[in-house]
Amino acid sequence: MTQEKFDTILILDFGSQVTQLIARRIRARNVHAEIVPFHTPIERMADPAIKGIIFSGGPASVYAKGSPQVNPEVFDLGKPILGICYGLQLLAHNLGGKVERGERREYGKAELHVRNKEEGISLRPELRPRGNKNNLFYKTPPKQIVWMSHGDAVRKIPRGFKVAATSAHSPYASIADRARKIYGVQFHPEVWHTEYGTQILENFAKNICKARAQWTAKHFVSEAVQEIRAQVGKRHVVHALSGGVDSTVLALLLKKALPAKQVKNIFIDNGVLRLHEAKEVMVNLKKLGLTVQHVDASKEFLKPLEGVVEPETKRKIIGRKFIEILMGNVHAKDMLSQGTLYPDVIESVSVRGPSDTIKTHHNRAPEVLELIKEGRVVEPLKEFFKDEVRVIGKELGMPDELIWRHPFPGPGLAIGILGDVTEERLRILREADAIFIEEIRNAGLYNKVTEAFAALDTSRAVGVKGDEREYGYMILLRAITTTDFMTADWYPFEPEFLGRVANRIVNEVRGVTRVLYDITQKPPGTIRYM
Ligand code: XMP
Repeated sequence: MTQEKFDTILILDFGSQVTQLIARRIRARNVHAEIVPFHTPIERMADPAIKGIIFSGGPASVYAKGSPQVNPEVFDLGKPILGICYGLQLLAHNLGGKVERGERREYGKAELHVRNKEEGISLRPELRPRGNKNNLFYKTPPKQIVWMSHGDAVRKIPRGFKVAATSAHSPYASIADRARKIYGVQFHPEVWHTEYGTQILENFAKNICKARAQWTAKHFVSEAVQEIRAQVGKRHVVHALSGGVDSTVLALLLKKALPAKQVKNIFIDNGVLRLHEAKEVMVNLKKLGLTVQHVDASKEFLKPLEGVVEPETKRKIIGRKFIEILMGNVHAKDMLSQGTLYPDVIESVSVRGPSDTIKTHHNRAPEVLELIKEGRVVEPLKEFFKDEVRVIGKELGMPDELIWRHPFPGPGLAIGILGDVTEERLRILREADAIFIEEIRNAGLYNKVTEAFAALDTSRAVGVKGDEREYGYMILLRAITTTDFMTADWYPFEPEFLGRVANRIVNEVRGVTRVLYDITQKPPGTIRYM
């Protein structure tokens, strides 16, 4: 098979668990990246299509006997090199610097201080974007959060190198020999917690290595399709769709990768969906050419929710039921596919924020973990970020309104009712929420807001409707903008808009006497109420 020759960043793997992410991040910025073992022959690295080389992290100590070493000829190729963590230590070790065991292991978030002067960039922030393009930190701020994970540390930097960035515990958090285009970072730019990690890798690939951006969404798709085929073979796959972006993109990938008879798509209605949601989702999926079985399990979910007020209990009940019903559909040797994304698999990021260590994500329920052990779970999106999944969705022909659908939590309206869930409360919340979203759409604001929803406060307030006093529920409206979901701002609607929504809800929804708009930021507030 002839392969197109892309400009490529070659990643030498020294055994880090996250090496794959380096390639993903670079490809996300449309540059082809390939991972090879650290002992790959030098001829391969000398290939003219290889525009730059990255040394990955790894668990070893560079001075330990038997630790993976790099062929020193790599430094004579004249190609740009970036060493990450162990990779940085390797290049320091090889080029005449010194690496030692640190006084203590540095693990977790650190604040990085970029040394502008050393890097030849003006210290004045307003001049930064025009900084030198050979700077690894081009287009990133002087202070930024990075993720560290190392025991050893560079104690002396090799000749010709300058310090490019420091952190409290790493005086050599980044070093650079710009003349030879050799760069090193002690932190991990490839992991989620490093704020500007993707930008740093992009700077290396595009500006420093001058690799052309030839890796497009089309290539993402064909790669994912091949992965699915290789993993699934002739087995059957059960895929549960929610109608959200991730599971829909995955359904389209499965459709492309496998014969129809090998895939069973199911949509589980848990009874806490929004107004007409089940119907709309089914119609949308059909339009995309997907055959989906509608499993109406609403009664099975609502019964055990009766009288339950505590949010985590609600989540557990819904999560359990979901898994129970899903597993009832996965037979004998079937595989299960999940639209798990990279942020979903990072343990320290719980859906409820860092303070809460209980991860309620059903993608990692015990039954699923068991299947993962048996190699029966297909998760081709698990190294992708949401924006990358959207790009794939677009390539697969998903319409914008599906690609830009607001997130909706699995436990749905159950966690939007701030008390126990009843049929009447569900009706009220559904109607109010639908009015809010309809007005947001009519005002052309849907894509300006990241997530918008109504919640129902079960304490009641007095109102006057006609001549009668009514004792009704309060509806809380929340609309936020965010990119990372860890911080969020409330959306500044015009007062007229809010007035119109409030009027419609109080007048059209029986049982509501008050409408409140929430102007709490996250933090300290969360996006959802419970
Ligand atoms: P919070 O309320 O923690 O929400 O600021 C952050 C994001 O997570 C979503 N969310 C959930 N998603 N199951 C989910 O699938 C849940 O239990 C859950 N709780 C919150 C929320 O909608 C927001 O996008």
